[in-house]
Amino acid sequence: MAKMNPNFTKLKKNYLFIEISKRITDFTKANPDAAKNLIRMGIGDVTRPLVPAVVEAGKKAFDELAVKETFRGYEDSGRGYDFLREAISGYYKDFGAEVPADEIFVSDGAKSDSGNIGDIFADDSVVLVTDPAYPVYVDSSIMGGKTVVYASSDESNGFAAMPENFKGSQTPDIIYLCSPNNPTGSAYTREQLKSWVDYAAANKSIIIYDAAYEAFITESDKPRSIFTVEGARKVAIEIASLSKTAGFTGTRCGYTVVPKELTLESPDGETSLFDLWSRRQGSKFNGVSYPVQRAAEAVFTPEGQTQTRETLDYYRKNAEIMQETLTQLGIDFTGGNNSPYVWFKCPNGMDSWEFFDLMLSKANVVGTPGAGFGQNGINRFRLTSFNTHENTREAMERLKKLLLPL
Ligand code: MLT
Repeated sequence: MAKMNPNFTKLKKNYLFIEISKRITDFTKANPDAAKNLIRMGIGDVTRPLVPAVVEAGKKAFDELAVKETFRGYEDSGRGYDFLREAISGYYKDFGAEVPADEIFVSDGAKSDSGNIGDIFADDSVVLVTDPAYPVYVDSSIMGGKTVVYASSDESNGFAAMPENFKGSQTPDIIYLCSPNNPTGSAYTREQLKSWVDYAAANKSIIIYDAAYEAFITESDKPRSIFTVEGARKVAIEIASLSKTAGFTGTRCGYTVVPKELTLESPDGETSLFDLWSRRQGSKFNGVSYPVQRAAEAVFTPEGQTQTRETLDYYRKNAEIMQETLTQLGIDFTGGNNSPYVWFKCPNGMDSWEFFDLMLSKANVVGTPGAGFGQNGINRFRLTSFNTHENTREAMERLKKLLLPL
């Protein structure tokens, strides 16, 4: 009989967001009327439609595919069309990062790349993640048989772990960082990121920098890209996404930047990380569809930028509404300033799944229990700003009603 990958026995039974949707389905079956009023602020899925510039570009590209002369099949490199990689490189330039177009790999999103990148590292690698963290880093490392160690993100560091918060004795080979952070909403300052870059250089580690939420940054001391930090090209790759930036959660498009000077130890001495990732993608990935790449290109035009900025501002307003309510209720929170996520302490010492069930059953509001992101989340809860102003206000009213009598 074929044998399963035994590493799967070390995973939690369900992926976090699958477990949440299972609980919502059970609740909906048992309470069909209450379920009609459900406000979903759990998974960070956008709710505002794609902006007109993006839709027009995508439609036009589909029309090209309908004509013999302009039809396209497989893309030659599978790494993204030049038009999109040049547009992304120009976007980086706008916020001060030099990212050559030929170091950009277009992908179907940050989730896949942050999980798949583990393929090119040795199975016995030590992977440092912050606790809490986006569960993909931990799950994919475990699937690959790697050892996961943690740096604590907690009240003491504003839920933004620094190298000194890693207390283990192993030397990490891989370091996953996410800023603005999912789930805690904290964002590293340039100085803090520089500490991580120096730490990685001293330990010969590679930083996998998840910048999926960079577009939410408004404060100038918080870098939009790790490549604006001195020395980062020697230690880091960066993964970014159009999901939250421009509403591509359904259309799927992201990109990963791999500086050509990065190397990994290999049987022959050293091998280029860029070559390894190209080799991996060449075997397992055939590129993003042409219409989606054209739609993505439109995000980076002046028109696309103006339109997507309006959407981002809309979500920012929701974050403010949540921050105001939590402040009124005297609840400790992080996030919301440079992030679509607000991360707060569960009231009355409640555990996060207990609070999740209470919110679902009594307030009919779905959030995400912090425990799903790590040990340091067991008493924390995450809400997203990806909703309407009306729903966000209503959810906050329900939260107040729920908590004031407690
Ligand atoms: C989240 O809610 O943490 C994110 O939406 C998950 C994702 O982007 O995959």
